[in-house]
Amino acid sequence: MNVEAAAARYAPQGRVALGFAKGKMGGDPVYAAVLARMPAEGTLLDVGCGEGYLLALAAEAHPGLRLVGLDHDEGRLGSAKQALTDRAPALTSEDARTATLPQADAIACLDVLHYQPADQQDELIAKLAGALRPGGQLWIRDAAADAGWRSTLTTWSERFAVAVGRHRGDGVFLRPRGELPAAMAACGLRVESVDCSEGTPFANVLHVGHAP
Ligand SMILES: C[S@@+](CC[C@H](N)C(=O)[O-])C[C@H]1O[C@@H](n2cnc3c(N)ncnc32)[C@H](O)[C@@H]1O
Repeated sequence: MNVEAAAARYAPQGRVALGFAKGKMGGDPVYAAVLARMPAEGTLLDVGCGEGYLLALAAEAHPGLRLVGLDHDEGRLGSAKQALTDRAPALTSEDARTATLPQADAIACLDVLHYQPADQQDELIAKLAGALRPGGQLWIRDAAADAGWRSTLTTWSERFAVAVGRHRGDGVFLRPRGELPAAMAACGLRVESVDCSEGTPFANVLHVGHAP
């Protein structure tokens, strides 16, 4: 995983953007976990892509991968667009709940679901699973509600981020660890879940869904 090269894509946006990109890509274990599972070709769809950190890492790792992303925060999406101009990704400003999703070989939805209530999370999971091509993978990373102090800390830090406008959302709706994989399995995916908070104080879990 080439963090330096991927983060350097944000240098034209200033030192703060560069520093944040480098810190997030290098410090959050989700990117290495997902990159290790990423196909080299086909279409990668990043739902709630934010500033596009996963797409930037994918751009460095896999020149043959088609990059697609969406986010309802135009500011963040603008940052992703600037960072990825050379790869001409398809990036759209949309709400994932109402967007028409393209078919994809791999779909990422990292730290996105908990901004919507549980019933909407399940609907979105079904929509993501429906956009997967045969043999494709769905990566959902989110925090669990039943991981003790880690869950409490994650909830309050996310509530603060929503309150100050750093993240858009209806609130913070963490769920017990087993609920997201159950919703994915109900869509016909084979699911494995791994802890994904190493080096951080959060309660994050990566759920990997495999389409038949
Ligand atoms: C914590 S950030 C994570 C960004 C990115 N996935 C990453 O890992 O760096 C959550 C992102 O999800 C986006 N988001 C949340 N709910 C969304 C929705 N319903 N439709 C589109 N984007 C959404 C937010 O705008 C924000 O950019």
